[in-house]
Amino acid sequence: NININDFSAIINFCQNNQIDFVFVGPEQPLVEGLIDILEQHKIRAFGPSKKASQLEGSKIFMKKIADDNQVPTAQYQTFEDAKPALEFVKKIAFPCVIKADGLASGKGVIIAQNFEEATQSIAEILSGKFGEAGKKIIIEEFLRGFEVSYFVICDGVNFLPLGFAHDHKKVGENETGLNTGGMGTFAPSPFIDKKMEEKIIEKIIVPTLDGMNKINAPFRGILFAGLMIDGENPKLLEFNTRFGDPETQVILPRIKSDFVTLIESAIDGKLNN
Ligand code: AMP
Ligand code: GLY
Repeated sequence: NININDFSAIINFCQNNQIDFVFVGPEQPLVEGLIDILEQHKIRAFGPSKKASQLEGSKIFMKKIADDNQVPTAQYQTFEDAKPALEFVKKIAFPCVIKADGLASGKGVIIAQNFEEATQSIAEILSGKFGEAGKKIIIEEFLRGFEVSYFVICDGVNFLPLGFAHDHKKVGENETGLNTGGMGTFAPSPFIDKKMEEKIIEKIIVPTLDGMNKINAPFRGILFAGLMIDGENPKLLEFNTRFGDPETQVILPRIKSDFVTLIESAIDGKLNN
């Protein structure tokens, strides 16, 4: 094993062992730009660039892409200081959702049921519970419906669907307690039909990929859309820029085609073939 945070050790290892390509799995090295560094060293790598990984690395960045490209998502405001955040929550309906801007291993989202819970969460996040990730927060509207995750593989221009998965996020038995990154998962989804999948592609996936191209950050990698489905309407909760843990365990076995061919086609921008 080499230390995943030591990028020069990774580069050395690849060069000394004639590694053909690198698949970067977790969010931290993606957000820190490991793909860009591998490419600078002419090592083929699969995953989004540092800039494109901001779709997961900053919830504020994700919201801006959504706003600029008419992707449906919860109404929100961003804050850096507790005082205006508290003024805001005095005026809104509960429950409301409070999120750390940056990476927090799935634990940076609090659903506040009342003003006291909101006050406590805002104070905790802004005073450093999640470190740098909590320097800014988002406060957003609570969406109703059921949740599902959708996975697509993208080559910067083209994409292919990899299917839907559901997960169990709450830490306690019978879906109680705080959110986690996911305690369990299943696929395929019995709740999503072809028509809904088409709507998700049309309203969320395509405009996001177009939006990333518009800002010169083409998305190449696995795009994992966390969605809330309210009746006929899908809304974007969040993006992850990778396979999920534990979702990978139910998505990968359902891929019938050769996985290496799929990844190499994505690296080469040939998913359309
Ligand atoms: P996120 O990391 O943004 O996906 O949030 C983690 C989890 O918090 C989601 O999977 C939902 O269960 C919940 N959540 C996040 N945002 C909202 C929202 N606006 N309304 C309802 N639940 C939410
Ligand atoms: N299970 C969601 C994640 O990997 O972030």
